Amino acid sequence: MKWTAQSHSITRRRIMKIGTKVIHAGLAPLAQGQAFSEGITLAATYHAPGDPSASPYSYGRNHNPTWTQFERALGELEAGTAITYASGMAAVAAVFGTTLRAGDVLVMPSDCYYTARLLADGFFSEMGVQVRKAATAGDGLAHPLDGAKLLWLETPANPGLDVCDIAALTEAAHRKGALVAVDNTTATILGQSPLRLGADFSIASDSKALTGHSDLILGHVAVRDALLAGKLLSWRSQIGAVPGPMEVWLAHRSLSTLEVRLERQCRNALAIAEHLATSAKVTGLRYPGLASDPSHEVAARQMRHRGSVVAFVLADRESAERFLRSCKLIIEATSFGGVHSTAERRARWGGDRIPEGFIRLSAGCEDGGDLIDDITQALEAV
Ligand SMILES: Cc1ncc(COP(=O)(O)O)c(C=O)c1O
Repeated sequence: MKWTAQSHSITRRRIMKIGTKVIHAGLAPLAQGQAFSEGITLAATYHAPGDPSASPYSYGRNHNPTWTQFERALGELEAGTAITYASGMAAVAAVFGTTLRAGDVLVMPSDCYYTARLLADGFFSEMGVQVRKAATAGDGLAHPLDGAKLLWLETPANPGLDVCDIAALTEAAHRKGALVAVDNTTATILGQSPLRLGADFSIASDSKALTGHSDLILGHVAVRDALLAGKLLSWRSQIGAVPGPMEVWLAHRSLSTLEVRLERQCRNALAIAEHLATSAKVTGLRYPGLASDPSHEVAARQMRHRGSVVAFVLADRESAERFLRSCKLIIEATSFGGVHSTAERRARWGGDRIPEGFIRLSAGCEDGGDLIDDITQALEAV
């Protein structure tokens, strides 16, 4: 087959598997001799004579060709319009900021990412937003929806790893007239598709598994509705929380290996969870991929993979610290989703209702046997 520009783009549109899409997403139809990926555009300003709306690019806080290419890729994968932000929290703030006004009700999980709760309980509640909370597990979040403007979901929830049914909760929220946003950081767009499950916003910290190399901070929001997309774009320009072109270019480059990385990470996470389940020193083990996990059934229905994060509890703070100190391969660090396996005693930060010995472990891409060996010897030291 002769690969003309047109035949390449048609081929891409017909490809259904998401593992293929992550590699080709965002690439423009290729002309002969053209690089697959456009280079990084580092620009504060562009030649833009006359009416600025006639120029695709005018000023670097409003738009950038490197963002455009990455957003096209994310949009294809999310089945919506994607807007990239300087961090995951900038993406969270953009959704809160464009939807919530004084007197509005925000319903959110009591066990979601701590800083998202801090932003809601701090700035937004001081500005007059009423914040109601319920646990992620079960259908708790369906109950406080009367009069709600926005239902915020995070599934699997960080760090406890409970899972909720996005489609069912979205239906319940829409019946009450509320918008629904899903923080999809832990699962990634490969793990589940919030917009296809009916949600209005899919948001993620792309500092984690989506980019996966622990070398950048980034976030994005995806929506189907053009009006919401317009508000999110204006918010980015006016607040000025814009991503650096270098970070965005690196993110797009990393996106193409997302499925390969996640396949390995999820396999390692499951093996680690199964191994931890055999230790008498471990309690409170959570991994949605384990058949015995309380989230297993809904996760199996809704998720394409169960993620790289495993949570478990050791006897106390001292045992958890000793475990982490004894790991030779697994790096003691916060965050998750990267190619390097990491773990931390999560209670050291405060803010989550978890035991002192709670450990959040993120399985990387190392050899699975090496990781199990490392965990075995670290548990022996406890
Ligand atoms: C679930 C979740 N959402 C959002 C964020 C915020 O992302 P960022 O650190 O990129 O601002 C994090 C960060 O840990 C997270 O875990």
